[in-house]
Amino acid sequence: MKNSFLKTSGGAKKAMIIAFVHHKGGTGKTTSCLNIAGYLAKMNKRVLVIDLDPQGNATAGLGIDRKTIDFSVYDVLFGQKNMSEVILETASGVCLAPSSLDLLAAETHMAGKPNNASLLRQNLSYITGFFDYVLIDVPPGSTLLMINGIVASKNIIIPLDSGVFAYETLTTLRSLVIELNKELGIETNLMMMLLRRNSISVMDYYQTWEVKKLIKEFLVENNMTSLKIFTLPYSRKIFKAQMNGLPISHYAPLSCIGMAFKRIAKKILVMNKNKIY
Ligand SMILES: Nc1ncnc2c1ncn2[C@@H]1O[C@H](COP(=O)(O)OP(=O)(O)OP(=O)(O)O)[C@@H](O)[C@H]1O
Ligand SMILES: [Mg+2]
Repeated sequence: MKNSFLKTSGGAKKAMIIAFVHHKGGTGKTTSCLNIAGYLAKMNKRVLVIDLDPQGNATAGLGIDRKTIDFSVYDVLFGQKNMSEVILETASGVCLAPSSLDLLAAETHMAGKPNNASLLRQNLSYITGFFDYVLIDVPPGSTLLMINGIVASKNIIIPLDSGVFAYETLTTLRSLVIELNKELGIETNLMMMLLRRNSISVMDYYQTWEVKKLIKEFLVENNMTSLKIFTLPYSRKIFKAQMNGLPISHYAPLSCIGMAFKRIAKKILVMNKNKIY
C-alpha cells in the first residue's frame, strides 16, 4: 500500500529521529533498526524506516522486493522526488523509504554538491510531522551517506558485535561525531549501545562480558556514563524473521531476542517522553 501514512494528520509534534550507526560492517545496525521499528509500530506508534544503504537489507527485511519499486531514497537525495512520494507501507505496519542500487552511485554524485552532508536532513523536514519515530539504517564505512544519516538525526544508537575490533572503533566513532557537531553546528546525542552476542556458546558469553567491561571503562574515561548499554542474545529466529520479511515483533514476539528488542523500544519511548536525549 502506498502513502497511506498521509491519511494520518501531520501534527505539530515532530518525530524522534534515530540513526543506527557503526562504520564497521555487520555489527547489527539493520537488525536493530528493523526490530525496534517493529515493536514501536506494535505499540501503535507511526514509524518510518529510511534505508540509506545500497545493500538494501532494511528494504528486504521489511519484505519489499527492490525489483518492484519505482523510486527510492536515491531519488529523494537528488531532488527527483519528495520523501512522501517514495514511502511504502509494509506488512508489519512500519513505513519504509526504500533503498535502490542507484545509491551505489550516491557518493560520486554527492561529492561536488554544496551542503552535501545535509541532503537527507533537508528532505526530512517535510514528513517528520506524520511520524512518531523515524529510524535510519545507515550503511557501514565512513562515507557521505553515513554522514548524511548522522546529520539528519539528533540521536544515534550504536550496535556493536562482541568482537574486540568493534569495541576498538568506538574512539573513532566518538571523534567523528564530535567533529561533525563542531563543523556543522549540530548536536548529536549518543543514545545507547547495543552489544550483540556472536553465538550461544559459553565462551562467547564470557567474551561479551569482557567487551562490556571494556566499553564501561571507555564510557567512564570519556565522561559518557549516561549512555546505556543493552546486551542482545544470539538467536536463529533473527535469520528466520529476516527471511520472512518481518521484524521479530511480528514473527516471534515472545522469543528471547524479541523481548530484548521490546525492552529497548520501551526505553526509547520513555526517553522520548521525558526528553532524555
Ligand atoms: N542477535 C542476533 N542473533 C543472530 N544473528 C544476528 C543477530 N543480530 C544480527 N544477526 C545477523 O548478523 C548479520 C549482520 O547483521 P546486520 O545485517 O544487522 O548488520 P549490519 O551492521 O546492518 O551490517 P552492514 O554493516 O553490512 O549493514 C545478519 O546476517 C543478521 O541476520
Ligand atoms: Mg546493514
